[in-house]
Amino acid sequence: MKPWPYPLWLAHRGAGKLAPENTLAAFRVGAGFGFRAFECDVKLSRDGEAFLLHDDTLERTTSGQGSPAGIAWAELARLDAGSWHSPPYAAEPLPRFAQIAAFCQANACMLNVEIKPCPGEEARTGATVAREAARLWAGALPPLLSSFKPEALAAARDAEPTLPRALLLDALWPGWTEAADALGVVAVITNWRLMDRALIERLHARGWRALVYTVNDASVARRLIGDGIDGLITDAVHEFGPSR
Ligand code: G3P
Ligand code: MG
Repeated sequence: MKPWPYPLWLAHRGAGKLAPENTLAAFRVGAGFGFRAFECDVKLSRDGEAFLLHDDTLERTTSGQGSPAGIAWAELARLDAGSWHSPPYAAEPLPRFAQIAAFCQANACMLNVEIKPCPGEEARTGATVAREAARLWAGALPPLLSSFKPEALAAARDAEPTLPRALLLDALWPGWTEAADALGVVAVITNWRLMDRALIERLHARGWRALVYTVNDASVARRLIGDGIDGLITDAVHEFGPSR
């Protein structure tokens, strides 16, 4: 296997439980707990701006409504993405991918960018995020691009073949190993319930690193670390992680 430059622990959606997920505030909280690697979800506005948001629609985590795929960035940038979480975060904005890139590089943090396209936007999102990542991290250790959507990863591969990619799996669907091969991944990231020592060894034998999401239980973390896991994405930044 190739050297693996990522820390063992990655804070999920920034530190998306203690602060509003996928905002700069969440990244600051995660860094404050000693995290030096983060996962976040990236999608595109109507006019092609890459920004952070988990859901396909705006209602749960912002003051907006509907799909962001139909809204220009100038409008999305005015939304409140913090009040839903708690009053101290009122008016926290949606961050552009470029702002998160700047934060990570300024704080020597590594990033796992989950390409999370709105429906029908898979190829456009994969290609745009890859091109943006290559531009924003020019010369620096690049982010790991991941997705549940093979089409998005294929577009990322075609746009920027040298950026590292990982296939996300919430099930071991038929043909996933062939898909990972074709996508040229460096890692596979599964739901932690799918991962065990046998799968870790199987992935390692193919030269792929083995990561899991979202581990919030210390006994699960201990088992997976004992089994040789390469990375754990967690919400529980206050309970365990680099500084615990
Ligand atoms: O990237 C791993 C994890 O974030 C996948 O699940 O729904 O939290 O984006 P989700
Ligand atoms: Mg995610």
